Amino acid sequence: MTLIRMGSSIKIGKTLRNFCTTSSSSFARKIGLDTPDDITAGQQMIMTFRERVENRRNEAKRSVIVQVQSEKSAADLYNYCSEYGTIESMHHYCLNEQSHFILVEFKAVSAMEILLNQCCHLNESHIIPTRTPFLWFRSKSPRRKQARTGESDVPILKHQYGTAIPTDKDIKNLLQGAKSLSEQINVLYSATHLNDVGERLRFLTARQIEIALCGPFPNVKALPFGSSVNGFGRMGCDLDIVLQLDTDDSHEKWEDCRLVFQAKTSSPNGRASSQRLMETVGDMCQLFLPGVTGVKRILQARVPIVKFQQDLTGIECDLSASNAFAVQMSELLYILGSHDVRVRPLVFAIRAWARYVGLTNPVPGRWITNFSLVLMVLYFLQQRSPPILPALDKLSMSSPALNLNHLDARPARSPIVGSAHEGISAEQDNRVETVGILFTEFLAFYSSFDFNNLAINLLTSANTIKPEHSPLYIVNPLEPNLNVSKNVGSEEVAKLRIELRNSAWLLESADVTSTSDKSVPWGLLTFFRENHHISKEQKSFAPPVSKRRRVSINKLFLEETR
Ligand code: CTP
Ligand code: MG
Repeated sequence: MTLIRMGSSIKIGKTLRNFCTTSSSSFARKIGLDTPDDITAGQQMIMTFRERVENRRNEAKRSVIVQVQSEKSAADLYNYCSEYGTIESMHHYCLNEQSHFILVEFKAVSAMEILLNQCCHLNESHIIPTRTPFLWFRSKSPRRKQARTGESDVPILKHQYGTAIPTDKDIKNLLQGAKSLSEQINVLYSATHLNDVGERLRFLTARQIEIALCGPFPNVKALPFGSSVNGFGRMGCDLDIVLQLDTDDSHEKWEDCRLVFQAKTSSPNGRASSQRLMETVGDMCQLFLPGVTGVKRILQARVPIVKFQQDLTGIECDLSASNAFAVQMSELLYILGSHDVRVRPLVFAIRAWARYVGLTNPVPGRWITNFSLVLMVLYFLQQRSPPILPALDKLSMSSPALNLNHLDARPARSPIVGSAHEGISAEQDNRVETVGILFTEFLAFYSSFDFNNLAINLLTSANTIKPEHSPLYIVNPLEPNLNVSKNVGSEEVAKLRIELRNSAWLLESADVTSTSDKSVPWGLLTFFRENHHISKEQKSFAPPVSKRRRVSINKLFLEETR
């Protein structure tokens, strides 16, 4: 497998490192950006979507999450777990001051299996004895304490405070320290994109659902999709999961097979059976899975979903089953995001802008969504001359979905990746537009966009007339008869146009480079407004874990607190 380092990511890492050592080192430590390991982690590898997902799924199959008293328990836990097999990595995170966790990744699945076979349940009544990779590390029993001697091995915690989400104040400080609009955008991306621990926790959260269903459905897959995997995920973003009960669809392979499973038939009404399935899965999650709380069944939606929180990973989840193009859409966005190094930072900047000016809202409603904004940015990049992204009609398609097998080639390296790799940054290379220029051009492009008559359509480079009168029409590239932004009301489109124009004007009249006077907002800081919405990420970050527990955690850690 060939892996290509993205040159400009190296640059972003350095920019942030320099900044971290000067302006905000405590914050950088909190979000785990000041260790050489993490700077290397920021230098993302390019691999295909399927390779990435497979890698993450395999990691999850070899990993457990252990609640510990504090990060100081790492050495003890490392020694204890090492008895079951070689540990590949350990990552610490905490959801609030009292709840600390360490994700332990073993080298082999077998080691984790042996460990799980040696775990026990608490000897308390009302315990539902499920076996999932979510554990507690309790204090030593006196017997075990005597048996063990020297604990000299010191584990290397790859991340400490691995899921800390930068607050708006942190971000403001980071942006203030940058030198140009482009640097602000790159810094914003580096500091807020979903990190390694964030991805691991999402795949483990999905893995727990798989484990729960794998008795009757041994081939079940609970696949993350949406921003958790499409390359546009922000720290703390929600986790969208689609269930595939039987993923082995190679029926030809079984033609000669004479033994056939007995099976029940599902309702001929696909929607009704999907609703019933989700209802049952919702019940199962609620009753049996540790950490799962706040289960809501939204069965009347176009795609029936179950919403819940996983309190042990701090993640809000949307689980669905009949979401035909869910993963393909993520793959498409991942490929387009990998096409040019400016795409993802630009998307982050536009989404941050939309949030700051109040266009997006964490509560679902008639406002524009992050997903729609991503498509708007991609469409804008297709419309550049020369285009930064190809129109999808230039690529092979098979109706009704794009043929992603064709697209599944390793993501292209853009000219910028090449030049940055050779030590020439995009900023120095005046043949290419910087991400800062693209940001201002995005505002200008949509300021004069004919929202009344035209649709945003990534499938063709020609103008597309709206097929109906939704205020905002964004063609779903995988199901072209659907409008992705059907929810958006006319007053929201009016607001969008006003904010685009105001912001374009503000950027033109305000500084786009750093000034010595720190009180004067410039670049992205121009758009920060007081009292804007709390982001979904910040809202969902610290679930009141301990309040929902029946078991007293203090009791488990008693020995160590003495
Ligand atoms: N999706 C879609 N059509 C829609 C809405 C969503 O195909 N009208 C798919 C997209 O693949 C999207 C995913 O469902 O990425 C999840 O939707 P959502 O959670 O709303 O968006 P995210 O991209 O995950 O962004 P966020 O971080 O805001 O959750
Ligand atoms: Mg999502």
